[in-house]
Amino acid sequence: MKKFNTVILDVTVAILDFLYRGRDYPRFWVLEEIARAPYFAFLSVLHFQESMGLRGPKHLYLMKQHFEQSVNETEHLEYMESMGGNTYWVDRFVAKHLVLIYYWTNVVYYLLAPVSAYHLSYEVEIHAATTYAKYLALNDHEDKILEILNDELEHSRELQIAMEML
Ligand SMILES: [Fe+2]
Ligand SMILES: [Fe+2]
Repeated sequence: MKKFNTVILDVTVAILDFLYRGRDYPRFWVLEEIARAPYFAFLSVLHFQESMGLRGPKHLYLMKQHFEQSVNETEHLEYMESMGGNTYWVDRFVAKHLVLIYYWTNVVYYLLAPVSAYHLSYEVEIHAATTYAKYLALNDHEDKILEILNDELEHSRELQIAMEML
């Protein structure tokens, strides 16, 4: 499944990079909008399993982690909005449709293969950190982007721990 995750991610990223070339903040906004969805999806599944009496030993830890990650991703999204990333209708249209597909894909994926679902998000977080690092290398320094880059690396570490736990 790891190979499958990498192929899906590479194709999606190539399409977004092509559509958003030269438009950094709209691209970051779309990426942040999508990046939040898996955490809602993981939380939804964990809540559902809990309601069905299937609470595992790591359940509360994972729910707390995913809630904090989703809040943190929302803060990233708000920053991209403050930089005009969601100004245009077309970008909002693209992001809202992608997020709808991505949310439900993650719900099913996490329900059936949680470690593989975590791995996909791990790859997305590494891609996000790399994207921000490239931006910083090519543009004037921006404290907030560096802070967001470090948050994405922290998310990837948390996902790595979650994968090892299951
Ligand atoms: Fe983010
Ligand atoms: Fe992240």
